[in-house]
Amino acid sequence: MQIINTITDMHAWTAQARVQGHTVGLVPTMGCLHNGHTELFKEARKNNSRVVASIFVNPLQFRQDAYEKYPRRLDADIQIAESFGLDAVFAPSTAEMYPHAPSTDWLFTLHDDPSYPRHQTKFVSHHIGQDNATNYIRVPSRLVMKMDGQKHPWHFDGVATVVNQLFNIINPHRAYFGQKDIQQIAILQAMNDWNESTIDLVEVPIVRDTDGLALSSRLVLLNDAERSIVIEVTKRIAQHATVSSANTQANTQANTQHAQALIKDLQSDIQSIQTHENTLVIDSIECVNPATLEPVDAIEDATILFVAYLINGIRLTETRPFA
Ligand code: PAF
Repeated sequence: MQIINTITDMHAWTAQARVQGHTVGLVPTMGCLHNGHTELFKEARKNNSRVVASIFVNPLQFRQDAYEKYPRRLDADIQIAESFGLDAVFAPSTAEMYPHAPSTDWLFTLHDDPSYPRHQTKFVSHHIGQDNATNYIRVPSRLVMKMDGQKHPWHFDGVATVVNQLFNIINPHRAYFGQKDIQQIAILQAMNDWNESTIDLVEVPIVRDTDGLALSSRLVLLNDAERSIVIEVTKRIAQHATVSSANTQANTQANTQHAQALIKDLQSDIQSIQTHENTLVIDSIECVNPATLEPVDAIEDATILFVAYLINGIRLTETRPFA
């Protein structure tokens, strides 16, 4: 397996793979690999003769303190990637990915900079940085001012910017993303359409631990007490999604499963969890259409239940289909 750190070498690797007639699958990650990522590796391995994972903690999608706290373990990640038979890992530095940024600190200032406006319906690519050479993408309000994005729309601008950059550098045939983050997938799919890209975005179902938790790199930040509370929150969410799904199927004609009633019940159920000295705060609970991210009134088979909450300040999300 090759470890590649520069854009020039990555370009050369992918160009050679294409010339040799290979299909290239890309799994973009921020490292700290877990079984959710390795499921993406397995999917990518099935359908591509060359597979590369990128490992890059992207400052543009974090506030500075969260960026600094984000878990990093490159050596262990490289071993995992190798054990799953990957052909290459692309692990660039921040200076390599954003060569025109005067500093990493400068990247954090972009989040709230009003000189880079967003459009209601269209993606906007701002040319910024030294020589105006970085494409900084603002995601349209119609997709970002919803769900998780309402409180930090710049997070998805950062994701779109780095994925656009990775697609330009690696030019894969297919790219693999977990269904855990439905807003990220909806935004990246829309960006792909806007770019008229031929890259196929492949969605891979959520992978859960034996205790029901959806795998996420943030879980390593939890202590035992916090993890027990998160397990309980996850159970209650699953119960409400399952009961509502059964009710929806029983009432297909009357369509009487109202999202607002479910949200209210789930909210009081989560609030009733005993947390002792820990702080559990619900950020949002929504029932949405996964393609448009619009909240729905009546729960249908395709509806997704999305919950965002904080345990002692650590933000977690849970995504559940009703079907
Ligand atoms: O989902 C993630 O891990 C990140 O948002 C991604 C897609 C690798 C971009 O940094």
